[in-house]
Amino acid sequence: MSLDLALTRDAPESAPTPCLVVGLFEDRVMAPSAARIDEVSGGVIRRVAEGGDANGKLGCTTLLFALPGVAAARVLVVGLGDRRTFDAAAFHRAANDAGRALKGLPIDAAVSTLTELDVPGRDAAWKLRTAALAADAQAYRYTATFKPKEGPARPELARIAFTGTDEAAGARALAQARAIANGVRFARELGNLPPNICNPAWIADQAKAIADRHAGVTLEVLEREDMRKLGMGSLLGVAQGSANAPRLVVLQWRGGGDARPYALVGKGITFDSGGISLKPGAGMEEMKFDMCGAAGVLGAFLASVELKLPLNLVCIVPAVENMPGGNAYRPSDILTSMSGLTIEVLNTDAEGRLILCDALTYAQKFDPEVIIDAATLTGACVVALGKHASGLMTGDDALAEQLLGAGIATHDRAWRLPLWDDYQGQLDSGFADVANIGGKYAGAITAGCFLSRFTKGRRWAHLDIAGTAWEEGRKGLATGRPVPLLAQFLIDRCA
Ligand code: BES
Ligand code: MN
Ligand code: ZN
Repeated sequence: MSLDLALTRDAPESAPTPCLVVGLFEDRVMAPSAARIDEVSGGVIRRVAEGGDANGKLGCTTLLFALPGVAAARVLVVGLGDRRTFDAAAFHRAANDAGRALKGLPIDAAVSTLTELDVPGRDAAWKLRTAALAADAQAYRYTATFKPKEGPARPELARIAFTGTDEAAGARALAQARAIANGVRFARELGNLPPNICNPAWIADQAKAIADRHAGVTLEVLEREDMRKLGMGSLLGVAQGSANAPRLVVLQWRGGGDARPYALVGKGITFDSGGISLKPGAGMEEMKFDMCGAAGVLGAFLASVELKLPLNLVCIVPAVENMPGGNAYRPSDILTSMSGLTIEVLNTDAEGRLILCDALTYAQKFDPEVIIDAATLTGACVVALGKHASGLMTGDDALAEQLLGAGIATHDRAWRLPLWDDYQGQLDSGFADVANIGGKYAGAITAGCFLSRFTKGRRWAHLDIAGTAWEEGRKGLATGRPVPLLAQFLIDRCA
């Protein structure tokens, strides 16, 4: 469950809450609510600022308890950094710092006044959405596979209210934030589950749960035999090494009459061992996250349905496990894709593009307005862009602008890489129409080029989320990206 989000018009000193969040700049200038709390409490915030307990720097949070004249049990002072350069990134940072600090407290509710801050170029709706999504993302805990602990449960943050005055715009912004937060939570939970639970059948079951819970959503699940009849030899080639049979999930939302749909396609490799081109052991466990593209498009679909967006959507998820074995596909195999193009497999670890190409071909049955795929496709994209930006590849400049804009608006940013024809030659094969790898240079781009062969004549964009879909390391969790970007893109299409 995501946080309960609300708007409040209470004066800061009289908000009856376990914790009130206020902002402080590093030059000791207080945000309006902090100044008000300082005034009624007889200068407490000024004293902690002067004493250095709260230095106002980004990342600094200070908890004050039982202030005189203040209804809130606690006041959390959040550093806002340099007042002259305070911008959207700093706001985002402060909102996340506040969320992290709140998560550490034994409280079930809070009120944040950060939404009162002026952010150049951003309106009240943006501030609400950003603060709400940050609070919800920080409050998330993965608990699905832990054993229940003994003893009394500690209260957990369940509700947060933000100061704001425009009721109508505020309610709309919070409704969007709620839907996006639910989509993000859905994607994170699916991503975090281990691959012995989250296998292709499990993904299909999650899609069924979405369809069952929402009127107007229809679901079709294709099984191996259905895919064989459709000629999906590329997807089935990847799938054949696994004991877990593949699924192709097709969810539809019809909120837009007879308009052409938007198609979302997500890579759903529930575990990527590499196959016969086996990956090294170190870090292989992270390949349970190789279905985060699937989780992302399902989460964005869910958010769109919860908002009842007035458009048509089709969400297609090829769910497959990539395993070695006696029946596994091998380097030098030739696969015939649903499009008719033949593919020479030169590396069974370049499997994502092989399941996506058939899913992209299938998507075109719906004559979509636009096709967007999301995939944890290449390590090369992580090398190029790191963990902050998803790689965006498309030949359509207008579509690129819309997607990049949605990413900026939700701080779920993407950066464009070129899909010039010059790169296509790297995919030449002596034995088939195309090879499944493009050599050592520009690996993210050649993967995009491979997909482009299956989307000719379509408005299509590819998001490589290999660097952004989860946080690295032992305790790294799925982030839920690119749900915010995709959901915002679709919301914008309805404006
Ligand atoms: N799922 C991986 C990509 C990946 C690797 C994502 C590391 C995040 C972190 C993908 O299936 C893969 O293995 N790609 C290969 C492609 C190569 C064989 C051309 C890669 O990136 O090494
Ligand atoms: Mn792989
Ligand atoms: Zn993969």
